[in-house]
Amino acid sequence: MQAYILQGETTQPGAGSRHRAYTSLHCRPVPRRKEPVVSRRVRIGCVTTFARFLDTHPDYATTSALDELRTSEYGRLDSQGHVYLDYTGGGLHADSQVLEHTRLLSEHVFGNPHSASPSSTDTTRLVERARARVLAYFNGTSEYTAVFTLNASGALKLVGESYPFEPGGRLLLTVDNHNSVNGIREFARGKGAAVDYAPLTMPELRIDASEMDARLAQADPARGNLLAFPAQSNFSGVKHPLALIDAARGHGWDVLLDAAAFVPTNRLDLREVTPDFVTVSFYKMFGYPTGVGCLLIRNARLSRLHRPWFAGGTVNFATVQGRLHVLSPREAGFEDGTLNYLSVPAVEIGLRHLERVGIDMIQTRVQSLTDWLLTELLALRHGNGRHMVRLYGPATPTERGGTVTMNFYDPNGHLLDYRRIEELAGLERISLRTGCFCNPGAGETAEGLTEDDMRAGLADGTDISLPRFLQVMQQRGGKSAGAIRVSLGLASNFADVDHFLTFAAGFRDQTTITIGAVTFDIESCRVIRDGS
Ligand SMILES: Cc1ncc(COP(=O)(O)O)c(C=O)c1O
Repeated sequence: MQAYILQGETTQPGAGSRHRAYTSLHCRPVPRRKEPVVSRRVRIGCVTTFARFLDTHPDYATTSALDELRTSEYGRLDSQGHVYLDYTGGGLHADSQVLEHTRLLSEHVFGNPHSASPSSTDTTRLVERARARVLAYFNGTSEYTAVFTLNASGALKLVGESYPFEPGGRLLLTVDNHNSVNGIREFARGKGAAVDYAPLTMPELRIDASEMDARLAQADPARGNLLAFPAQSNFSGVKHPLALIDAARGHGWDVLLDAAAFVPTNRLDLREVTPDFVTVSFYKMFGYPTGVGCLLIRNARLSRLHRPWFAGGTVNFATVQGRLHVLSPREAGFEDGTLNYLSVPAVEIGLRHLERVGIDMIQTRVQSLTDWLLTELLALRHGNGRHMVRLYGPATPTERGGTVTMNFYDPNGHLLDYRRIEELAGLERISLRTGCFCNPGAGETAEGLTEDDMRAGLADGTDISLPRFLQVMQQRGGKSAGAIRVSLGLASNFADVDHFLTFAAGFRDQTTITIGAVTFDIESCRVIRDGS
């Protein structure tokens, strides 16, 4: 029988547990490593912990097919000792997706789709099949048009540049938005539309309903008014109410739903909710391919978007002498140049994989694990009884997904540098994310940063980086600017969460001095290491 080692303790799988069948899957061997700076004081047997988890989360047992899948399709995680906790950053691909795609490419001759040759026709057939599959997956077949883009940001930019913003019209954003949505305000401002933000409530970081209602009521229905919000926050994991779509429409708004962080673990049914525009990145849903996203446009709103230019592939006719062009209808008018036509067929493969696995099962598993993670993080205390972790966003799994954002504090309530924590996590082969996650608004609200703080940060001029800003905020009452994010997804299991919790517990009674100094910087969402 294999012995499982958890932080120096040896347990026999199944011993003392009524969940014998699960233990080997959930208490995976942890390679012994050189003890990092953080001392290990918490030594809980994983087997006992897993039994406790199952007792309180019996639904998890119904998702055991995902454990088999992890072994057969994501075996590289465990064979290499990875603890992957960045599904909101990017999903992981199944081995079979890549194999099937490689086989497809090696068995066919695919040419540029812009002609009638056999190789071109074969490409077009597969691209259109993938498009049909995307529409069917989201249940939007007859009511929506699917435009392939580079990623969700590309889809968001298409809406931003094409939406009829005008003086008297409005762009309403939620404070909780990815920068690729925030960036749309530049198009709106440029065309003279008013730009406004609906604030969040504390501490749950949900949209403030009454503030939102007041702003929705301000629209002049005769003008172009666009509301843009995320179905799920990439900062806090909050699921924002999709009922907002109809409510906003009733006041004369078009609605852009950024579904990038929602669709990897939730079903989006476009017969039940009907946003005018929806944006996704496929690598977040099933890991592969990267470089392909999608804009879903409600057909009833297609004519509202006007491309500000034309390109190869987007015109039915263009003349140089006549200085005229006729844009192609529907998706063709939005897909600039040549599509990533070798990767697009891999979207169909990925969707088939996701359908076989079942999004509901993924959601059940992620929800159980998230609840456990939240409960256990909140229970972590220093020797003097003070909380070790501050969570941002809802502390229960109600109306939230598997993205959990936090900061660690020492026994005197001083912030521990999240960059150092990321570094220490890396020593344990834990992949998590730190920084601002390209969502400044949610971070500013969560961390209580004010407009004055922002001005203080920018006082030295525009040559500001996140590390420098963090320093300034530390001088202004020990505030943080940035946090640690762990996120769960399709291939997550109990061992991943347990490993992170054990890592987190290692910060008990630690201080900035004892954990050591960070050796890399994060500037504008990019990691910069010495010599890189
Ligand atoms: C909610 C949300 N919207 C948009 C994006 C942008 O996605 P991409 O970088 O794939 O364009 C992200 C990426 O993390 C996201 O989480």
